[in-house]
Amino acid sequence: MKKRVLLTGGAGFIGSHTYVALVSAGYDVTILDNFENAQKTVPARLEQITGTPIKLIECDIRDEQAVMAAFEGRDFDAVVHYAALKSVPESDADPLGYHQTNCSGLIHVAAAMQAHGVNAIVFSSSAAVYGSTDDIPIAEDTPPAPQNVYARTKLFGEEFLTSIAAANPALRTGILRYFNPVGAHPSGLIGEDPSLPPTNLVPVIARVANRQLDKLMVFGGAYPTPDGTGIRDYIHVLDLAEGHVLSLNALLNEGQSHLVNLGTGRGYSVLEVLRTYEDVIGRPIPHEIVDPRPGDAAVSYAKTALAKSLLGFEARHGLKSMCESNWAFSGKD
Ligand code: NAD
Ligand code: UD1
Repeated sequence: MKKRVLLTGGAGFIGSHTYVALVSAGYDVTILDNFENAQKTVPARLEQITGTPIKLIECDIRDEQAVMAAFEGRDFDAVVHYAALKSVPESDADPLGYHQTNCSGLIHVAAAMQAHGVNAIVFSSSAAVYGSTDDIPIAEDTPPAPQNVYARTKLFGEEFLTSIAAANPALRTGILRYFNPVGAHPSGLIGEDPSLPPTNLVPVIARVANRQLDKLMVFGGAYPTPDGTGIRDYIHVLDLAEGHVLSLNALLNEGQSHLVNLGTGRGYSVLEVLRTYEDVIGRPIPHEIVDPRPGDAAVSYAKTALAKSLLGFEARHGLKSMCESNWAFSGKD
């Protein structure tokens, strides 16, 4: 019998790719989403990709009773929890709203799990919990130093899950700290489709490439890096999705809780990403080096040994494939 998984935020960018990976790994998946930051077309596209009718609950995780009702009679074995708000500048402007969704929402999900005897959860955390650190590559035992409200809500989620698991030995938690997700499904049907103007590097490059923006502002050209621009660990969303399947398999089969980075362990500079994207589209992309963005680290990439040894996780896709699939999804030449 297939294991039943509730996938919150499953209509969003990473959640939709994880839906496809979980279905092809043999899980029976139900998506819960309020479509606050997702397109209504996503469920039909997921049906097209998987050839499986979608199970969807439209629900806001801030509504405790609605979350409890979503668990009634569904007999879930596990939850993969993506539903959250994720904009750093917006989080600093609206700390209450971010805590309501990212913290209260998670508490509602955990309460419903406890009431219904669901004892496994995979949680989307972020490399943002590390803040700026000189300890490169960044290992999981680096002391967290969140520098914005968004990152603090993610650290809250980690600590909250760890405390409830300490009080309930049956509960198993997979806490995954992602680095910089990029890319899209090869079908071109799902990808990163932000409703707000993007601030992350690759979505901004895509908007310049399709002429919705004039040029890329490269934030800082004098960092202590080989070409002076910031270095990050870009990871293909398909690899991230696979990381969630491995985390869930581990929780359901061996029962071991874990907290791991999901990255490639390889950093690329802003100019390297730009050149790769230029190669993909076959023409130059206008850019200008401007002042650094306040709060940005010079270099951030993951130590990946723990995810490999605990989960057997290893990223397979390179930067070119991330840029190609991003362009196939968002390019409008
Ligand atoms: P996304 O915004 O595309 O997906 C989040 C989903 O949650 C959306 O479908 C949205 O509609 C839904 N949602 C938001 N508020 C909700 C609510 N109150 N009730 C029900 N559903 C709600 O974002 P994403 O990039 O796919 O990120 C998914 C998760 O991964 C988030 O928890 C995010 O913090 C985490 N994460 C993302 C990144 C990144 O760069 N994309 C990096 C690290 C961690
Ligand atoms: C941001 C978030 C972080 C989140 C991560 C992945 C902040 C402070 N941090 O991190 O919480 O987990 O995204 O989604 O927002 N860059 C430019 N020009 C641009 C945009 C970016 O030069 O228009 C540069 C940045 O300076 C950085 C790199 O590109 O060196 C990557 O930036 P971005 O995609 O925003 O990710 P992070 O800053 O790593």
